[in-house]
Amino acid sequence: MKVLVTGGLGYIGSHTCVELLQENNEVVVLDNLSNAKVEVKDKIKQITNKDIKFYLGDMIDEELLDKIFTEEKIDAVIDFAAYKAVGESVQKPIEYYTNNVSTVLVLLKQMKKHNVKRIVFSSSATVYGDPEHVPIKETDKTGNTTNPYGTSKLFVEQILKDLYKSDNTWDIAILRYFNPIGAHPSGLIGEAPNGIPANLMPYIAKVASGELECLSVFGNDYPTKDGTGVRDYIHVVDLAKGHIKALDKLQKEKSGLYIYNLGTGTGYSVLDLVTTFEKVNNVKVNYKIVERRPGDIAECFADPTKAKEELNWQATLSIEDMCRDAYHFIIKNKK
Ligand code: NAD
Ligand code: UFG
Repeated sequence: MKVLVTGGLGYIGSHTCVELLQENNEVVVLDNLSNAKVEVKDKIKQITNKDIKFYLGDMIDEELLDKIFTEEKIDAVIDFAAYKAVGESVQKPIEYYTNNVSTVLVLLKQMKKHNVKRIVFSSSATVYGDPEHVPIKETDKTGNTTNPYGTSKLFVEQILKDLYKSDNTWDIAILRYFNPIGAHPSGLIGEAPNGIPANLMPYIAKVASGELECLSVFGNDYPTKDGTGVRDYIHVVDLAKGHIKALDKLQKEKSGLYIYNLGTGTGYSVLDLVTTFEKVNNVKVNYKIVERRPGDIAECFADPTKAKEELNWQATLSIEDMCRDAYHFIIKNKK
C-alpha cells in the first residue's frame, strides 16, 4: 500500500513510518516541521534502510494536498498532523482549532476529490473527559473535555462520523491513544520536546540525565493506590503497530467506521513510573510533591479488548521496556 502519513516526522508518526516501511508499504510524508526535525527522515532510513518521500508543507495548503494526491496514487492516509499541548491549547484556541480541525477538513476534501476514502485518525483518551469509571470502553460516554485540544479531537471524531453517514463507502478508523511513552529501541527516534516537557516521562528522563533538577509530582491526594495520578502508559512502538493493524482491518472490510482504544489496560501511578525508571536505568530521579495540576483527572486506563478481538492487536512491551527505551533515547541524543 502507498500511505500518506501527515505529521509523519513527529513522535508517533516517525515510529509508525518505521513499522509501515518494515511491512513493505510505500510511505509519503507531509510535515510542516512545526514540531519535528527534518533529520528524523534520515533516522527512519537508518533504521529501515528504506526511503520515504517527503513533502515539506502545511496540511492547510489545499493546493499542495491536491498536488500530492495527483502525483502519488495514495491508497490510505494516517493523519497525525496536529498540535498536542493541552495547556497551550487553552491560551491559543484559534490556533488549535485551525490546526487540529480546519486542516482535517482540507485533507478530507482532497481525499474525496481524489477518491481516496481510507483514513486512520489520531484521537485521544482525552475525548472521554473525566471518565465515569475505569477501565474505559469505546462505548463509554465522550465529551466534557476541559480544553480546546481535547475538544478539537472530539470535533474531528464527529466530522468523521458525519462524513461516514453521508457516504458509507468511506473506510475510517479512529484510534484513541492512552499515554504513549518510550522510544524506538535503536535510540534514533523518540520524543524530543523543546524546552521544559509538559508530560511526565520526558520530564523524568531529563531529571535523570541531569538536564532538569527535580520532578514535581502533581498531587498525592487522589483516590488512587498511592495518591498520585494513574495512567495507561503504552510503548510508542506498540502504538505504531496498532496503526498497521487498523490499516489491515480497513483494507479487509473495504468500508466502515471503527473506533478503538489503544492502551495496555493497566494503570500505573506517577510514583510507579518514577520507581520503575530508577530501577531499570539505575539512576536517581529527584522529586517533590506539589499541588494538583488543574484539569488533571485521578485515573485513566483503557479496556483494550475491542482492539484485541477485532484488530488482533495488543500491547506487548512492558513498563520496564518503556522506561529503558525512553532513557536510552535521551542519553543518546543529549547535547
Ligand atoms: P508531534 O507533535 O510529535 O507530531 C505531530 C507532527 O505533525 C509534527 O511532526 C508536526 O511538525 C506536524 N504538524 C503539525 N501541524 C501540522 C500541519 N498543519 N501540517 C503539517 N504537519 C503538521 O505529536 P505526536 O505525539 O506524534 O502526536 C501525533 C498525533 O497523535 C496528534 O494528532 C496528537 O494529537 C495525537 N495524540 C498524541 C498523544 C501523545 O500523548 N503524544 C496522545 C493522544 C493523541
Ligand atoms: N505529572 C506529574 N508531573 C509532571 C507531569 C505530569 O506529576 O511534571 C502527572 C500528571 O499529573 C498525570 C500523569 O503524570 O497524573 C501523566 O501526565 P501527562 O502530562 O504525562 O499526561 P496526561 O495524562 O495528562 O495527558 C496525556 C497527553 C494528552 C492526551 C492524554 C490522553 O498529554 O495529550 O495523555 O490520555 F490527551
